[in-house]
Amino acid sequence: LKHFLSIEGLDKALLTEILDTAESFAGISEHQVKKVPLLRGKTIVNLFFENSTRTRTTFELAATRLSADVLNINIATSATSKGESLLDTIRNLEAMHVDMFVVRHALSGAAHFIAQHTAPHISVINAGDGQHAHPTQAMLDMFTIRQHKKHFEGLKVAIVGDILHSRVARSQILALNTLGVSEVRVIAPKTLLPAHVRSMGVIPLHDMDAGLKDVDVIIMLRLQKERMNSAFLPSESEFFRCYGLTEAKLALAKPDAIVMHPGPINRGVEIASSVADGSQSVILQQVSNGIAVRMAVMTMTMGSRGGMQ
Ligand code: CP
Repeated sequence: LKHFLSIEGLDKALLTEILDTAESFAGISEHQVKKVPLLRGKTIVNLFFENSTRTRTTFELAATRLSADVLNINIATSATSKGESLLDTIRNLEAMHVDMFVVRHALSGAAHFIAQHTAPHISVINAGDGQHAHPTQAMLDMFTIRQHKKHFEGLKVAIVGDILHSRVARSQILALNTLGVSEVRVIAPKTLLPAHVRSMGVIPLHDMDAGLKDVDVIIMLRLQKERMNSAFLPSESEFFRCYGLTEAKLALAKPDAIVMHPGPINRGVEIASSVADGSQSVILQQVSNGIAVRMAVMTMTMGSRGGMQ
């Protein structure tokens, strides 16, 4: 695994290996060990051309716990504002003898582009590209599901909200189907579902009540207004009435269903506060699990598998 750009093309054995490796890292705090030396001497560059709270900071924490050096490039104050191209930015960072780029970009395919053009010894991890993919988010979500449900077989999973613009949903659907869940339902108005939704290995539904019936996992998504034409923005109150997760709607799922959200959450738009903060919510556990999963992906791409045994 040289780069980690997408879930596409990865098989069940490799996804399971990522989850198992992450599980060994998740045990680090239980062992009262803060750091392991697996990436000592390596330099990792966080290259975020789009805003982030969770992904950037958990990548930084993951790298630090692996004893790597981390460079956080502030794009707003970098020379890209003076017209430097993406490729020239990469060439200059390569000249500083770095070992890995963690890339977030508003354009789909940006991480693949960098992987194709960077020096052969450098690994690239996709931290979210446009509407295309967010593979480490999908893997920390799979980790959280396995933590609570123990296995994937037989699970019914509902993904609700803005599927059309969601790179997270695309990566989750690929991972869930590869890991062998029994059903992935996507619940959204027609305007927020991709035209080719039926070829994605999901069951599309427009009625949230019917869609949530007897599911084991509910994944809520935010309306990605930054990727929408402002003339077609849905009304938030109307969206919440039809597709917001309330306690009444949650009661339609299995009693032990878990509620997930990749964040950032918009309270009162796609999820009620009482559900986001409720006993079935694992939203903050997803954030915590991001550290171990990103440690796993970093070590596996750098060829330093292992972790705490
Ligand atoms: N889930 C996620 O990607 O959050 P950030 O945009 O804060 O990184």
